[in-house]
Amino acid sequence: MIRLFILGFMTLCLSALNPAVHAQPDGPASSTALRQTLSLDEGWRFHPGDIPRDSFAGGQGVNLYGPDITYHGAKAGSAWGAAARGYDDKSWKRVDLPHDWVVEQPFDEKALKQQGYRPRGIAWYRRTFKLPASDRGKNIELQFDGVATHCTVYVNGTEVHHNWSGYASFQIDMTPLARYGDDAVNTIAVRVDAEDAEGWWYEGGGIYRHTWLVKRSPVHIATDGVYANPVKGADGRWVIPAEVTLANIGSGTASAAVDVGVFDAAGRRIAGSRSAPVRIVSQGDTVAKVAVPVAAPRLWSVESPNLYTVRTTVLRGDRAVDSVDTSIGFRTIRFDAQKGFLLNDQPLKLQGTSNHQDHAGVGVAVPDSLWDFRLRKLKEMGSNAYRTAHNPPAKELLDAADRLGMLVMDETRHFNASPEYLKQLRWLVRRDRNHPSVILWSLFNEEGLEVNEEGMEIARVMNAVVKQLDTTRPTTGAQNMGQLGADGKANPKNAAHSVDVVGINYQADEYDKIRAAYPDKPIVSTEDTSQVMTRGEYTTDWSKVVASYDDVYPGWATTSTARGAWEAIAKQPSFAGGFSWTGFAYRGEPTPYGWPSASSHFGALDLCGFPTTEFYVRQALWVKDRPVLTLVPHWNWAGQEGQPIKVLAATNTDTVALYLNGKLVEEKKADPFRMVEWQVPWAPGRLEAVGKKDGREVARFAVETTGAPMALRLTPDRNALAGDGRDAVPVTVEAIDAQGRPVPTANLAVALDVSGPGANIGVGNGDPNNHAPEKGDKVTIYNGLAQVILQSRRGGAGSLVLRATAAGLKPSETMIGVRAVPALPSVPVVAQ
Ligand code: GAL
Repeated sequence: MIRLFILGFMTLCLSALNPAVHAQPDGPASSTALRQTLSLDEGWRFHPGDIPRDSFAGGQGVNLYGPDITYHGAKAGSAWGAAARGYDDKSWKRVDLPHDWVVEQPFDEKALKQQGYRPRGIAWYRRTFKLPASDRGKNIELQFDGVATHCTVYVNGTEVHHNWSGYASFQIDMTPLARYGDDAVNTIAVRVDAEDAEGWWYEGGGIYRHTWLVKRSPVHIATDGVYANPVKGADGRWVIPAEVTLANIGSGTASAAVDVGVFDAAGRRIAGSRSAPVRIVSQGDTVAKVAVPVAAPRLWSVESPNLYTVRTTVLRGDRAVDSVDTSIGFRTIRFDAQKGFLLNDQPLKLQGTSNHQDHAGVGVAVPDSLWDFRLRKLKEMGSNAYRTAHNPPAKELLDAADRLGMLVMDETRHFNASPEYLKQLRWLVRRDRNHPSVILWSLFNEEGLEVNEEGMEIARVMNAVVKQLDTTRPTTGAQNMGQLGADGKANPKNAAHSVDVVGINYQADEYDKIRAAYPDKPIVSTEDTSQVMTRGEYTTDWSKVVASYDDVYPGWATTSTARGAWEAIAKQPSFAGGFSWTGFAYRGEPTPYGWPSASSHFGALDLCGFPTTEFYVRQALWVKDRPVLTLVPHWNWAGQEGQPIKVLAATNTDTVALYLNGKLVEEKKADPFRMVEWQVPWAPGRLEAVGKKDGREVARFAVETTGAPMALRLTPDRNALAGDGRDAVPVTVEAIDAQGRPVPTANLAVALDVSGPGANIGVGNGDPNNHAPEKGDKVTIYNGLAQVILQSRRGGAGSLVLRATAAGLKPSETMIGVRAVPALPSVPVVAQ
């Protein structure tokens, strides 16, 4: 949504501010005028469970062959059951996409632990729409950004696609099957198989990313067909060696050229070039190439993520027939065996986190704006890098990473060199190779074959396929074994030889040996840490919660408390950095437990994005430009008077003096990695830390014993939403005492009521043992915090009000202004 908004805004700027664009006879005033990219998210029909395809299901469907013929379902246009045109889906539930039905299921101890104890299964989706007669002759493409897990797609009763990845997008040219005019309805039916699973984490189920219908000229830019990644030459000059894949679905060979213009943030065309014409045979494609020199662009970096827009326009003679806008950034990247990672020639240690893609309340159907929220939280922690473990991310995540300045290690799901999986790898690179944020392609994660010749060969083939499409970014593989042979030297047959950057998962005790064994290769810790803690818990109950002191980790994680893991990386100056496991907690893999824990206890942020102790520890380790000082735990220990309480100061200061009710407990030197801890006999009141650098006070932080909860408090992450039916905002729910202080030990039920132009689309509280529904008008505050996600209504404007009540507490209300925005162009819903 934000991407489209920005494109729309660019279009406005381009036409308003740049008369030169109008003056060019061959230049379009707006890229959107030449193709229509219509959202297909609205108005699907959903049926949980399978529907047999061995009949017309009660006589419905379209029988093209008469009642006596037995080959129904075997011929084009004649699919049976729910795949058929005309199948009666009126009783099915109406849903808008993105949609994850698995997150709506109750937890079930018998369901798969790694998938978060939620039943999966099979479901059907259907959508009907019309195409005006004036669309005849255009190329009509259906686009699915992500369906979990496998699916079969039917268009107008013809089986058109099998998707073998829950993470890869796919497109279907439905032009030959399209039906035009007011009397004809087009039907898309999708059978989703989420019984199948690809990962060992929660994957959700359903059409959980966006869908689109694109109408464009028969000669057009293929989907993901613009490659416009700027490079800096040895002479220090920037050039965009643009490659544009042109497709032709017309009946004869066509000739076309491309104009590639570069626009700055103010909408000024700062550079541009036109290619020579190329020939494109019918049903074929051809790459048009043109180099676009760009003088003195503002660089993209994590602090200043300057973006430009490349507008690629297809010209047939002087006539513009198609156009696409692509966001780009000018930056150089280099992985060096001695210096680690360099961005714009400056060394930059990757302070990264690995993340899956689910969020509280919504599962994997994450609203676009939540990606911004999540990346902002990680940046607040001092992180500059994000690993998309273990699969291609939503493209909106990469758009957010480009905008916010977050470096990305982009990972494919399958370690596989067979045609189907190389197709998925090609798709990933083609889709993502323009993003300045993407710095590394990851080809695998902890594959059994990585230790031997097969792994080396698979990686060799995959690496070569990546290089065909992008030579500007290196490849890596997240390898947890096999880099070293029994003699401690480089194992001659292992996947590390086939990638550019040696990736190490865990094995911190082997860092020196691996470093020595691969003297000429850059190295990165592709995964480390795996510490476990439960947000807001400071006493371990070995049946379900782990105390949040950064001192518990599973056996495979070697030295991997968050502090130990980073110390080991920081002490390897040649390492490019690391990606901790994990930034955000996720459903599934409830290590170190099983039921009742249903989501992970990893995570510097919990499922909602509330900080755990690891967040503050990493902030202290990673933030360099300001003092950081946070104390854990809270100071509500009624009943434990005089008992020692372990206190940890997460800090980057030199020393910390700790005061209890104004009296010095002790001043200690803070280790830059291990920081500082005390045992403090508890007494109610105020525990205050004073951090000093070079003997001078630079930071202060206090925790106080609060009173009992008296009132609720609601704090939205933003106070405004676009009324487009997509924009969403998390609202924090807390209980506060009589003095307005949040009560960190509050655990209480809250009732929610929403009025105005929007809805509550999900709730959560970050408790891995919480089995309450994530949809609905109730949430329980867990250790002081809960979250409600509000989303605007399509066409909405006005005040969206969330009201929260709890027994015996003063209620709270918050208001979010929903502003009217132009509707996202979309495909109208029609009944069949
Ligand atoms: C790693 C693996 C991750 C996750 C993690 C848990 O070995 O790559 O996907 O399972 O362990 O510690």
